[in-house]
Amino acid sequence: MCGIVAAVANRNIVPLLVQGLQRLEYRGYDSCGVAVHNGGLRRARSTARVAELLQQVSTEHLEGTTGIAHTRWATHGAPAVHNAHPHFSHGSGDEAEGRPGRIALVHNGIIENHEELRNRLKAKGYAFASQTDTEVIAHLVDSLYEGDLFEAVQSAIARLHGAYAIAVFCRDEPHRVVGARAGSPLVLGVGAEGSEHYLASDAMALAGVTDQIVYLEEGDLVDLQLGRYWVVDRQGDRADRPVRTVQAHSGAAELGPYRHYMQKEIFEQPRAIADTLDGIQAVVPELFEASGNHPAGEGAHHVFKQIESVLILACGTSYYSGCTAKYWLEGIAKVPTQVEIASEYRYRESVPNPHTLVVTISQSGETADTLAALRHAQSLGMRHTLTVCNVASSAMVRETRLAYLTRAGVEIGVASTKAFTTQLAGLFLLTLALAQAKGRLTESQEAAHLKAMRHLPAALSAVLALEPQIISWADDFAGKQNALFLGRGLHYPIALEGALKLKEITYIHAEAYAAGELKHGPLALVTSEMPVVTVAPHDALLEKLKSNMQEVRARGGVLYVLADADSRIESEDGIHVIRMPEHYGPLSPLLHVVPLQLLAYHTAVARGTDVDKPRNLAKSVTVE
Ligand code: M6R
Repeated sequence: MCGIVAAVANRNIVPLLVQGLQRLEYRGYDSCGVAVHNGGLRRARSTARVAELLQQVSTEHLEGTTGIAHTRWATHGAPAVHNAHPHFSHGSGDEAEGRPGRIALVHNGIIENHEELRNRLKAKGYAFASQTDTEVIAHLVDSLYEGDLFEAVQSAIARLHGAYAIAVFCRDEPHRVVGARAGSPLVLGVGAEGSEHYLASDAMALAGVTDQIVYLEEGDLVDLQLGRYWVVDRQGDRADRPVRTVQAHSGAAELGPYRHYMQKEIFEQPRAIADTLDGIQAVVPELFEASGNHPAGEGAHHVFKQIESVLILACGTSYYSGCTAKYWLEGIAKVPTQVEIASEYRYRESVPNPHTLVVTISQSGETADTLAALRHAQSLGMRHTLTVCNVASSAMVRETRLAYLTRAGVEIGVASTKAFTTQLAGLFLLTLALAQAKGRLTESQEAAHLKAMRHLPAALSAVLALEPQIISWADDFAGKQNALFLGRGLHYPIALEGALKLKEITYIHAEAYAAGELKHGPLALVTSEMPVVTVAPHDALLEKLKSNMQEVRARGGVLYVLADADSRIESEDGIHVIRMPEHYGPLSPLLHVVPLQLLAYHTAVARGTDVDKPRNLAKSVTVE
């Protein structure tokens, strides 16, 4: 999704800005650009990759000490150079066109009242050169400018409805950048010498530049000048935001022996799970203790004792980890659990229960729909909130009372893999903690579950060794247009996740069904051209699942079965079986999802798609 980098310095900051964009590339984008102050406003924009923008700025000798840069993921207006940021006021502000611009601006988010503002600005004589909502803000700031950029931005944002993080500079104030955020993240980086300062939509953009980060809060406005900065809150009062030392993640960007980040991240899962368990579990006997440091935060045990139900809110892959957790929370902890797609929950009328624990799940912790759903639940009086999240400094962690932090490390591939399995690990621990708080877990059950969890990294490594067998399946899938995924019970969400992975990076149309639903409609799709992936662990539903598989075979469908060692399903004509190394009881979803990740990955490689940056998608979805 869109990314922002900005800087005020007393050296040429173009390389710093473009490198910052390179660090944000993993989030997905379709155009990019950089603008600097150099006598007037100058910019370079491109619909190619950031590496080509780097080439372009060098050819065009673009240099300056104050500047802003952006990667754009198109919402309003097609991915085209004229829609790429930075936007200048007067739109056609390039010197070549004879109308020098005064304001340069980059924006993440969506301005909902852009039409109305556009009409008003057009009436004032502003010419628009793009279809974006962003250009409206540039003109608006220009129209309010009376010699002080900070004041102009402050007046402009008071007129905006929607979500934004912006960085702006002005032709008439060469050493100043003003930023503002509402609904989209923005951080301030404090330079080593204290003389230069930066803005970015994500601290990762500043890795290697500074580790001194200020997380701006909702409604904050920030003024960056050479050697000083200040922040005001939404009331216009001076705000002291703490400077935090944030470890840079630049090492995560190294591929090592892997061909793609997704492959690397799939293979990092044993370590990611081990780190997550270390972080959450710290010391097993203390895990559930009423007093002391609860891994989910202070007072967690007390909250867990009180709550009557759980409401999980999430999107995409994180939603599927929530769907899996429902089976655990109801089956083990006996706590009624509802799982909702965040973008649906936030807009529907629901019946709030103040004794519900609201659980958000998010890799990034910045997903706009999940954040909005959380705030909606809070506005309905639900104050017991917990997040399972991979980014400690994210808005979601800051805005919930309790948190289980997953330690997947930075996930760069757009297709989520290690974030999913670490979320499952966090959610399983939440289940055990709730079960314990409510007295629904005997000591021996607790010990058995914890033992199984500790063995997970080794079990995952054994599953990863199945990669050569999965590659042979991927060769079959590469030429297909459609695929079905079936699962039952705990493994139905795993089938959903497998289908999402396949469609996301291979562009093969894939659907997942609870296997019992097959004969209620989807069976009509089954032909010899329809591969049917079946997740078939040896659990209580296996015999039922075998009947569903017969229904597929009887219609000529070809089955690809992930069976446990003792599932008694043999490979034969039209049935391809891969055996999982061991049956893993309630934690089996963490293992069964891995071959599905590998299947999607190797099918995408065989089809030659852009695995880590699939078309139309972004890593962190910070707009609605
Ligand atoms: O950062 P989040 O976990 O909140 O993101 C939610 C979804 O956007 C994300 O899981 C998406 O579905 C992935 N690209 C799936 O691989």
